[in-house]
Amino acid sequence: MNGHLYLIGLRGTGKSTIGPILAQRLNRQFVDVDIELEHRAGRTIREIFEQDGEQHFRDLEEALLRELSEQQAAVIATGGGVVLREANRQRLRATGRIFWLTASTETMWWRMTEDQSTASRRPNLGVGGRAEVEALAQQREALYRQCADVIVDTEGRSPREIAEDILVACSTSSPTTS
Ligand code: S3P
Repeated sequence: MNGHLYLIGLRGTGKSTIGPILAQRLNRQFVDVDIELEHRAGRTIREIFEQDGEQHFRDLEEALLRELSEQQAAVIATGGGVVLREANRQRLRATGRIFWLTASTETMWWRMTEDQSTASRRPNLGVGGRAEVEALAQQREALYRQCADVIVDTEGRSPREIAEDILVACSTSSPTTS
């Protein structure tokens, strides 16, 4: 497969868990944009939001995506809001294959509550809690759909099974649902 393999989707869809499995199988580097961004900023994303505001975070996110997209083909897990900017959507589409990981609100919420270490580093993007997940899923669905080459339903499946499906889809070229 040419170009990057991008994972998009809301928090709790498994991007950071499935990404390293894919990278290992494809013998590529794995980059988690959120973690790389925090590393470079020396702050958590929650702190960046609190101290400098969301737009500043979005500027950093856009600049980092641009930089990563120009590097050697990798497996890249993006932050859930990367699709909000048109420039990012175009860049993703121009430089790789995009896999949109989906799950029910119930499952996303359950996975987020399980992963408290990440939750404490991420800002609320609305009212917080389950209602926020529902609202974001609705607001962003059309944007994810616009970008996605392949839609991957993660519901009730293990990270390994999901990764296998993505690897199979990598070997085909037409837009599909996995
Ligand atoms: C965001 C999701 C987060 C992180 C930031 C904003 C969003 O990434 O980029 O807190 O707008 O949905 P994850 O999807 O990896 O949690």
